[in-house]
Amino acid sequence: MRAVITGVGHFVPDRKLTNEDLEQMVDTSDEWITTRTGIKERRILEKDKPTSYMAVEAAKGILEQKNVSADELDLIIIATSTPDTYIPSTAARVQNKLDAGNCWGFDLSGGCTGFVYALATGTQFVESGRHQKVMVIGADKMSAFLNYEDRNTCIIFGDGAGAVLLEPSETGDTGIEDFILHLDGSGYEHLYTPAGGSLWPTSYETVEKKMHYIQQDGRTVFKHAVKGMADVSSRLMKKNNLTNKDIKFLIPHQANLRIIDAVAKKLDLAPEQVIINIQDYGNTTSATIPLAMSEAYQKRMMTPGDWIILTGFGAGFAWGSLLLKWTID
Ligand code: UT7
Repeated sequence: MRAVITGVGHFVPDRKLTNEDLEQMVDTSDEWITTRTGIKERRILEKDKPTSYMAVEAAKGILEQKNVSADELDLIIIATSTPDTYIPSTAARVQNKLDAGNCWGFDLSGGCTGFVYALATGTQFVESGRHQKVMVIGADKMSAFLNYEDRNTCIIFGDGAGAVLLEPSETGDTGIEDFILHLDGSGYEHLYTPAGGSLWPTSYETVEKKMHYIQQDGRTVFKHAVKGMADVSSRLMKKNNLTNKDIKFLIPHQANLRIIDAVAKKLDLAPEQVIINIQDYGNTTSATIPLAMSEAYQKRMMTPGDWIILTGFGAGFAWGSLLLKWTID
C-alpha cells in the first residue's frame, strides 16, 4: 500500500507586517531585511486567535475542495511549535472545531522540520493499511512567542498554516516514495524558547528575563541549515537513483532566501526548480513547506508524476528530506 497526497490547502491571516512597519519598531531597515533574508512582509494572526484557528481553516479548505466530511478522517497530526496550550494537544482543539467525530490525533514537535516529520509519520498509518484518511497540518503562530524588541528574531517569523490529506494510492505507483530524517539535540540551545516547559517553569523571573520568547543564534543555525538540507537531499536522490535533472521541484523550508539559494546551488538546481515564497510570509516554521506546496498547486505548477523533494531544517536540530511523486491533477 502506498500513501499519496490527494488534497492540499493553506491559510494565512489577512494582516500584513511589512519591513517598513518593522523599521518603526526596531533598529532595522527594509534594505537589511531584504538583502539578508529575502523577506518583504509576513502575516500576523489576531491576538485572540490561536494556532488551531489557522490549522482548522487550512484543513477545512481541503475537506471542501475534496467534498470529504470531517467524520471520514481517521487521524489528525498537527506539526507545531506554538501549540494553543500544552494540555491538551492542539490536535484535540482542531478535532473539536472540525467536528471530526471518528478520529484520533496528536501534536508533533519537530521545529521547522515538523511538517516533514509529520508527513513521514502519517504515511506509516496509510501504508500499514490502518488508516484511509490522514490530515497532516503544519501550523504556527510565531507572533505569540516573538519579542518585538529583538531585531534578531522578530523580522524573520510570521504566522500561517498548510495542510495535506493523505490517502492510500489507487494505482500503487505514486505517492510518498522515501524520506531521510535526522535529529541532533546537541544544537538545541542555538534555537529555542527557554521557559514555559518543565525545564524552566513559568515564574516572575522567567517573564522578567523574557525567557518565553524565541531565541536564536542565527549564524550557527544558518551554517548547519545549508549543510543539513543539501546533504540529506543529495543522499535521498542518490538512494532513489535520481539526479538533479529528475527533480521537478525542491520545496525547501523558507527561513532565509540566502539559505535556500545556497542549498539549491549545492544541489545544482536551476532557479525554476525551487519553490520560493519567503518574500510574502517570512518563516512560518511548520507551515512553510505545505504553504509553499499549496500556493504552487494553486498556480497549477505541478503535473502528476513530477518528482518533488521537501526539505527542512530547524530547532533541535531537526532536519530531513522527503521524496514524493505528485498525484493531484
Ligand atoms: O527556521 C529555523 C531555522 N532558522 C534559520 O534557518 C535562520 C538562520 N539564520 C539566519 O537566517 C540569519 O543568520 C539571520 C537572518 C538571523 C541573521 O542574518 P546574518 O547575516 O547571519 O546576520 P548576523 O546575525 O551575522 O548579523 C550581522 C550584523 C550584526 O551587526 P554587526 O555585529 O556586524 O555590527 C547584527 O547586529 O547585522 C546586525 N543585525 C541587524 N541589522 C539590522 C542583526 N539583525 C539585524 C536587523 N536589522 N534585523
